[in-house]
Amino acid sequence: MTALDNQAITLEINLTIRLASQTDLPKLEWYGRYKHFRRLFRRTFSEQLRGRRWMLVADCNGFPIGQLFVQLNSGEQHLADGSRRAYFYALRVMEMFRGMGVGTHLITEAEAMLHEGGFRWATIAAAKENAGARRLYERLGYRVFAEDPGKWSYVDHTGTLQHVHEPCWIMEKKLQPR
Ligand SMILES: CC(C)(COP(=O)(O)OP(=O)(O)OC[C@H]1O[C@@H](n2cnc3c(N)ncnc32)[C@H](O)[C@@H]1OP(=O)(O)O)[C@@H](O)C(=O)NCCC(=O)NCCS
Repeated sequence: MTALDNQAITLEINLTIRLASQTDLPKLEWYGRYKHFRRLFRRTFSEQLRGRRWMLVADCNGFPIGQLFVQLNSGEQHLADGSRRAYFYALRVMEMFRGMGVGTHLITEAEAMLHEGGFRWATIAAAKENAGARRLYERLGYRVFAEDPGKWSYVDHTGTLQHVHEPCWIMEKKLQPR
């Protein structure tokens, strides 16, 4: 073997799916990549404290390498109605951990938590240009039942209003017990 040969070792990682705590908020910015969502994270966390949303994180050694937010209540009843339907959004997993089932674990754990809380339907949006996400949701049993222009806005970390336009499919799934 020479110094130029690559050495491969296999690592085992422990992953915990849990609700975010206050100390996760800066870490969810992923070293600056998502700093523009700083205010949104804070607002979502305060909604979690009020029991209106969940911020689920995939924790690896104390760091949130993945996230899935759940909206329990919404003015848009086809997405979430506070008792039977809840809406999943903001699913993401750090690039180096993709394709290993982390996204699937986040979704299936959220589904089980919802079912235990009496909810019977989960909804999720897949951007029309994100074929990979739609494929993942279909594999997990979600079916398209509506579409949405996907227009929304948020105030970034500098206080500037940012507009998003991302047309999407709205998908739903009947939940089963764990
Ligand atoms: C979508 C995402 C959360 C999946 O997480 P993950 O841990 O890789 O998911 P899993 O390992 O459980 O499942 C892999 C599946 O995810 C989907 N996927 C893989 N890479 C993807 C990507 N870059 N973007 C979107 N979906 C992807 C595919 O369906 C893949 O299955 P495949 O092997 O048939 O291609 C992750 O790819 C991601 O963070 N993408 C960027 C953010 C995003 O697109 N979020 C969804 C918003 S609608």
